Amino acid sequence: MIGVFDSGIGGLTVVRAIMDTLPGYDMIYFGDTARTPYGNKSSKTVIEYSLQNTEFLIKQGAKMIVMACNTASSVATEALKERFSLPIYEVITPAVNYSLKMTKKSIIGVIGTRATIASGIYEKKIKERKPDAKVYSAACPLLVPLVEEGWLKKPETRMIVKKYLHPLKMKQIDTLILGCTHYPLLIPIIEHKIGKRVRVISSSTAVAEQIKAFLAASPESDRELSKNGHTDFFVSDITSQFEKTAKSVIRQHIDLKHVNL
Ligand code: DGL
Repeated sequence: MIGVFDSGIGGLTVVRAIMDTLPGYDMIYFGDTARTPYGNKSSKTVIEYSLQNTEFLIKQGAKMIVMACNTASSVATEALKERFSLPIYEVITPAVNYSLKMTKKSIIGVIGTRATIASGIYEKKIKERKPDAKVYSAACPLLVPLVEEGWLKKPETRMIVKKYLHPLKMKQIDTLILGCTHYPLLIPIIEHKIGKRVRVISSSTAVAEQIKAFLAASPESDRELSKNGHTDFFVSDITSQFEKTAKSVIRQHIDLKHVNL
């Protein structure tokens, strides 16, 4: 089983991307809805939550972990890799690699939660690979609550997205990394507001492609993963809004199970 976790609904965009890229692989999802959002919390707290989430997924039989949360990926990757020996994927490196493949002018925009943007991890990783790249970042703390609330098409959401993207548009970026797994749910609005000339990169699809490449190159890891086309969904708090948005992201019936960590 592939174990996937996020602070809430955003990681489901990663589950969907894995379902599309690796059809049939069994998955287990944990959305930490009782403690969302992670993006405004301290690194220490996010690390603690990420360790607990991973332990839960491993107990349920996960043989690989995907941190489907940029906030957790930016602050907790090292701690997880130190504590656990199974393959652990974060969502930042794949998005960086993909953006560098796509950008023509090397002027890249990054949007994410406060914690992700404050960590400076995207800029650091992009500059490690391409020192002359220009990176412009913007924290968009209002977007996660809007997505969790299911406000995916509201005029208020359009207005807020426009305001957040304006400074990046002024810098004439040609590539925009969605550095938060909640944001792919706002792709139509984001693409509209940032303009046609900007290529929008989702960390969700980028990580699914990276896992696919890893499994193709590592048959022994691939053999450990069961493939019955089954996915279990766990959350730390069940709300009707989560259920509704989750079904529209996954595009199939899902049974949410509650768990206290
Ligand atoms: N979806 C998460 C991310 O990718 C974070 C949302 C949050 O809990 O703030 O950063």
